[in-house]
Amino acid sequence: MTYNKKTIEDIDVAGRKVLVRCDFNVPLKDGVITSDKRIVGALPTIKYLLDKGAAVILCSHMGKPKGERNMKYTLAPVAARLTELLGQKVELAPDTIGPETKKMAAALKGGQALLLENTRFDKREEANDPEFAKELASMAEIFVNDAFGAAHRAHASTAGVAMYGGLPAVCGYLIQKEISVMGKALEDPARPFVAILGGAKVSDKIGVISNLLEKVDTLIIGGGMAYTFFRAMGNDVGTSICEYDKLDLARDMLAKAKERKVNLLLPVDNYIGREYKEDTIYMRIYSDSIPDGWMGLDIAEKTQELYAKSIAGAGTVVWNGPMGVSEWPHFAGGTEAVAKAVAESGAVSIVGGGDSVAAVEKLGYADRMTHVSTGGGASLEFLEGKDLPGISCLQDK
Ligand code: 3PG
Repeated sequence: MTYNKKTIEDIDVAGRKVLVRCDFNVPLKDGVITSDKRIVGALPTIKYLLDKGAAVILCSHMGKPKGERNMKYTLAPVAARLTELLGQKVELAPDTIGPETKKMAAALKGGQALLLENTRFDKREEANDPEFAKELASMAEIFVNDAFGAAHRAHASTAGVAMYGGLPAVCGYLIQKEISVMGKALEDPARPFVAILGGAKVSDKIGVISNLLEKVDTLIIGGGMAYTFFRAMGNDVGTSICEYDKLDLARDMLAKAKERKVNLLLPVDNYIGREYKEDTIYMRIYSDSIPDGWMGLDIAEKTQELYAKSIAGAGTVVWNGPMGVSEWPHFAGGTEAVAKAVAESGAVSIVGGGDSVAAVEKLGYADRMTHVSTGGGASLEFLEGKDLPGISCLQDK
């Protein structure tokens, strides 16, 4: 999907009330934010608007409170972090569209910011209820969507405000960056174009594999889904994770790769374990067949080298999904080797998906990537070529 949407720079925001949808769905542990990447990602848009003298009304979801006011999912920690990062007080409203909140929004002056409470405390949010969307819109004169991570959701605060709210609707810098970097990679990539896909299940990545097979020169497969491909090729997979109902699909993908002359790489050696446990006994095998009673848990060194070689020569690399059980130290080597290879490649590099992003950040490679996506599901759907309702609803240039 190619988008050419108006941005905050295409509209006069000075002195106006601007409703900004962000994705502040950040990871929390005991009420403390463990990664503020999504908050930091939203700052350029917020700062631009504040500098222009706009009164900025921020909103976001957090977690899945299922329409209930569950304070486990309050945005209070986000308001506190925003206050620190912006160096000015960001008040948290008591709810999303209640009378007190509306009063606070009405009193907001240019250069000030207010954060509305979790949009998902109201079940009308996920239902994309037109009345709820109109109430949200009624507090502002302009709508800015900068919530890339939630752009695949057609909810009231992501798409509804633009659809029913009657406000000019444009994108912020984060969405603009996400769609321009990933859009360019898909439409006009520097070649060779190498995609690396990992994760447990073929079923989660069917759409992406299928779309990328039309575009890439090399497709590298790792993670649990490699074993479904092995089984489809007639190899033994032991007790490895394998989607037996997806074998035909895996065969179709292998045939499509051959037909399109895509170089499809699968592991040539693996670390295998006895059980799906962090401290399981494990060994390295120099083959793509797994013995009975053992399961594949990571790609091993020969495969790491093979993959690194392909990545080193790439013009564009898109990576989504881990190569093994990367949260367990014995089986993190494959994912870490790929992270290193991508960082050192000099290619246009785009990383998405929780575990691959976590590996890149843990190893300190984030700054060496062209783009680390703030979207999990949203970046996958973008790579699948699907329309993202939170973006298509915005005004075209
Ligand atoms: C995400 O974390 O991927 C986004 O914030 C979307 O969250 P959701 O999957 O709960 O809609």
